[in-house]
Amino acid sequence: MTRRIFWKKPINHLLEVSESKKGLKKVLGTPALLLMGLGAIIGAGIFILTGVASAYYAGPGLVLSFIFAGIACVFTALCYAEFATMVPVAGSAYTYSYVTLGELFAWIIGWDLVLEYTLIVTALAVGWSGYMVSIITTLGINLPPQLLNPPGVAGGFINLPAIMIIGIICVLLIRGTKFTSQFNSLIVMFKLFVVLLFIAIGVNYINPANYHPFLPFGYIGIFKGAAIIFFAYIGFDAITTAAEEVKNPQRTFPIAILGSLVIASVLYIIVTIVLDGMVPYYLLGGAAPVAFALNVVGIHWADIVISVGALAGLTSVILVGFFGQSRVFYAMARDGLLPPFFAKLHKVFKTPINGIIVVGVVASCLAAFLPITAIAELVNIGTLAAFIIVSASVLILRRTRPDIERPFRTPFLPWVPILGIISSLGLVIELPTVTQLRFLVWLAIGLLIYYYYGRKNSILTGKHGTGEEIIESAEE
Ligand code: ALA
Repeated sequence: MTRRIFWKKPINHLLEVSESKKGLKKVLGTPALLLMGLGAIIGAGIFILTGVASAYYAGPGLVLSFIFAGIACVFTALCYAEFATMVPVAGSAYTYSYVTLGELFAWIIGWDLVLEYTLIVTALAVGWSGYMVSIITTLGINLPPQLLNPPGVAGGFINLPAIMIIGIICVLLIRGTKFTSQFNSLIVMFKLFVVLLFIAIGVNYINPANYHPFLPFGYIGIFKGAAIIFFAYIGFDAITTAAEEVKNPQRTFPIAILGSLVIASVLYIIVTIVLDGMVPYYLLGGAAPVAFALNVVGIHWADIVISVGALAGLTSVILVGFFGQSRVFYAMARDGLLPPFFAKLHKVFKTPINGIIVVGVVASCLAAFLPITAIAELVNIGTLAAFIIVSASVLILRRTRPDIERPFRTPFLPWVPILGIISSLGLVIELPTVTQLRFLVWLAIGLLIYYYYGRKNSILTGKHGTGEEIIESAEE
């Protein structure tokens, strides 16, 4: 038994499954995947958390937090690019750890990704609801607050707009990957336009006095700020879950992963410099800091445009997080670690319909009743854990399987993965203890499920046949 849980999946086996005609459709090219990356990355982090992080953690020095977190992400992104081109199979970090560290680690990371993506959908749906309500209110329409907020927030009982957006995205995702990606490309372009518009307007209103004091919370504020706004960078990893739906993954992945990360980093750094220059940092703690800053300097017309852009931004993040989650479920079910129910594809659209619906229902229930803050911190810790395992896996697989063809090689080994691990660990340490404890509870629940279900039904036991047979049996 002890030995079996460290069994590794043969890479050739994975490639066969990915190339099989039974699986998902290959419809994504380089521009679509790059836009999917930007769709997943730019969202609540920049539109909401930048303000909180400036006001309470880092002050105007938040720009240094963004630079630090961005560099940490580049190390890991280089590792993700190596894996995504070498093993272009659905499931991302889950699949990578299956071939390097064995089944138990694969399960842990898969379970961890479930947390990451489901909570991204939840957090972003809550943020979306906040922006939607503010637009509706600006337009002079007043809806009952009981239906617009979770219990304990502004007289709320249930967050209906959050449930509504999750429902809409659920339908889009079932409708198909190509359709989803076209919709995503459209809203991402609008979101980029809005970010550039903010920069173009805001730069004229920078008051250098607002940069003093630069580090009101001391140097430690840079790292505390980085641990929070790390959320803003999450997403480049999510596109690797789409590996089986990508045309020519060897070329497409490095460009999409690194391209989206670099573009987002540059935009974040500029937006933060502008935002903290426009308004004193201690005024930025509200729910919509970017729109607020424009209001403070008297550009009221831009407020509504930016809010609509933020709404688009948040929508695309929900879309890609949701997408990622359903693909992780699909990969885990195909491996027998979750019931075959999750591997079932829609007859016409070939999308994993059951996984999409389950994520939709769970995220709706959470979003209906929870506020956004604690959710974002849990997402961060879940993602950082995945980053650490992916970086370590690159190091391990280079030693154990140097023979495998690697269309993209992480440069400067072993330094890049080692720096990826150290910087991610550093950010985990800066997160609140309560978040660390919640994460451990989540992992403990996952281990129980593995013990009672996954371990006994894994594809490696040979009980349920190949992954392809599992997909077929799910379709019957
Ligand atoms: N990076 C994503 C966001 O900021 C999760 O919303």
